[in-house]
Amino acid sequence: MLDQADRLRKLAKDVDEKVENNNKGVKIITVTSGKGGVGKSNFVVNLAIAIQMKGKKVMIFDADVGMGNDDVLMGFLPKYNVNDIIFNNMNIEDVLIEGPYGVKLLPGGTGLTKVEEITEEKREKFINKIKELNDLDYIIMDTGAGISKSVLGFIACSEDLIIITTPEPTSLTDAYSLLKAVDHFEIKSSAKVIINRTLSFKEGIETYNKFSNTVNNFLNMNLEHLGNLSDDRKLVEAVRKQKPFIISFPNSSVSKEIMSIANKIMGQKEEHTGDGVEGLFKKIFSIFSV
Ligand SMILES: Nc1ncnc2c1ncn2[C@@H]1O[C@H](COP(=O)(O)OP(=O)(O)OP(=O)(O)O)[C@@H](O)[C@H]1O
Ligand SMILES: [Mg+2]
Repeated sequence: MLDQADRLRKLAKDVDEKVENNNKGVKIITVTSGKGGVGKSNFVVNLAIAIQMKGKKVMIFDADVGMGNDDVLMGFLPKYNVNDIIFNNMNIEDVLIEGPYGVKLLPGGTGLTKVEEITEEKREKFINKIKELNDLDYIIMDTGAGISKSVLGFIACSEDLIIITTPEPTSLTDAYSLLKAVDHFEIKSSAKVIINRTLSFKEGIETYNKFSNTVNNFLNMNLEHLGNLSDDRKLVEAVRKQKPFIISFPNSSVSKEIMSIANKIMGQKEEHTGDGVEGLFKKIFSIFSV
């Protein structure tokens, strides 16, 4: 596992140099967590809709290999995924789901981490198809939890890393372990943090301060506190109704918090230089073909 991650770091650097910078203005963000079930998918789906509501074009890439469920949260039946584009000759529009406010969702499937099995011809065909998606401002990737080759790979492919944790010590230690791996293999030198399920504003601040103190003491990683999300029953109701909380309960505390996080992210957009969606998938192919 560590060998693989080490190779990944070298590859991430190589790929950065190799992929031509076609500067399509797409910002690519990976959302992940150490522990599972801490709220990644709900954050991703609602953040994507919030940014789209504010007039930007967003695509969610559900990269939780084999377990993706962003489609379910938006009330869609999972049908096809990227595998069908690569292996079954489907087109992007057959697989892409159009969600609320026109937010797009591309279900990942398992194909991208088994890139060795994809012939050069199939890869080229896929990249040519994916180029159609260049009219986007943000791609938000929802990954699985934990330290795995695929999660580290997706982090390496993106510009920004957002890590989600709850105030629970188990979630915090797992988040720390993930950042430790990201730092150790020099995959990223900065990360943004969301504290989810806070019981008060004070708890959010205290949790972040504790976490960032530990990270600053032991890791070479710049942290930024992106925001907190309250523990809110409305979120649970929204999941049951399969209607994202930002739409079903726009006045709930989590919705207001997501809106302010969306504003913060949109305010940071200027700093970036993107590779476009084509660049993203070229990186994914290079990283996962080893
Ligand atoms: N802010 C919150 N308030 C109340 N409940 C929450 C909150 N965030 C998450 N939950 C609960 O946690 C559950 C899991 O959330 P979610 O599916 O977004 O987590 P995840 O990190 O994507 O999980 P996985 O690691 O399995 O992909 C939700 O269905 C909900 O019941
Ligand atoms: Mg999830």
